[in-house]
Amino acid sequence: MLILGIDTSCDDTSAAVVEDGTRILSNIVSSQDGIHKKYGGIVPELASRRHVEMIWPVVHEALESAAIKLRDISAIAVTKGPGLIGALLVGVCFGKSLSYANSIPLVSVNHLEGHIYAAFLEARPALPFIALVVSGGHTSLYRVEGFGVYRELGRTRDDAAGEAYDKVAKLLGFGYPGGPVIDNISSKGDSSSIPFPRAHLKGSFDFSFSGLKTAVLNYVKKNPDTKKEDISASFQSAVIDVLVDKVTDVAKEEKINRVVLSGGVSANSAFRDKMKRRSLERGIELFLPSLHLCTDNAAMIAAAGYHHFITGDMEGLSLNPKAYLPLGSADG
Ligand code: KG4
Ligand code: ZN
Repeated sequence: MLILGIDTSCDDTSAAVVEDGTRILSNIVSSQDGIHKKYGGIVPELASRRHVEMIWPVVHEALESAAIKLRDISAIAVTKGPGLIGALLVGVCFGKSLSYANSIPLVSVNHLEGHIYAAFLEARPALPFIALVVSGGHTSLYRVEGFGVYRELGRTRDDAAGEAYDKVAKLLGFGYPGGPVIDNISSKGDSSSIPFPRAHLKGSFDFSFSGLKTAVLNYVKKNPDTKKEDISASFQSAVIDVLVDKVTDVAKEEKINRVVLSGGVSANSAFRDKMKRRSLERGIELFLPSLHLCTDNAAMIAAAGYHHFITGDMEGLSLNPKAYLPLGSADG
């Protein structure tokens, strides 16, 4: 069964063909980094316009590189939300039109559910498992009981971890997106040189990263000559310490020794290393998608879409995108 996945939730236009929810035949991502870089962040209107330009070429390339025709597709899976509303609208309208014009069934996918399902493109995590979605827009912990059965155990109370990376990168003058730059430059710095705060929020599995961001800003103002490598490495270790502690604490509390990481920040090399070490110490089976499956891509949407399709959870032409769409809600 072949699913065509489409994701336009943020600043990447992506289309993919996935077989039976697990085997990637193609996964095309057209990045908009070059467009948004000079503004130091995503400009929503420019993102929408670029999606309009790129959606058909990207879908076409996904079909071509999978060496299939539209008529071979069993269903189209499109991201419904959460994300930038104008950007989501492009994918949803395109998916609906393609579905209607070619009589192909349509399903919709929550982008966060897609991130979790990225793990199934390379492995078979047994249920239940703990999932951390850590991206530019979200930092949330879930207990996953089964397909469509998600219980949120914690979430960020302010900035997402990726957002903190991007904002700190901007104030250090590194451009957008900041995560990969800070990841890279941190390897040349001393991560214990500046004791930035770790918001552990005792008694809760929620996160908070805005205080850390402010601490970095204040430090930079007072110490303009400190090496950016050291500031980056110290900031990064404060983020990672909290993420790793929370994930392992929640696994212990829920008595589940399987953890799936997903979202752009789980591409971070220091986070991956520390999480692997901690998992070994604690006997946790860790599922870490390859780097290109951590960041936004449509293969993960097709993987989750496959389950919607086989359970008969179809959409019609009344499908509308939703900027706010918590996973596990009635809508999401
Ligand atoms: O999952 P994603 O591609 O898009 C969203 O759904 O948000 O995540 C993008 C976020 C950005 O904030 C980016 O800076 C961050 O993930 N990111 C990283 C790394 N690669 C991407 N953060 C830290 N280290 C990385 N290597
Ligand atoms: Zn994402």
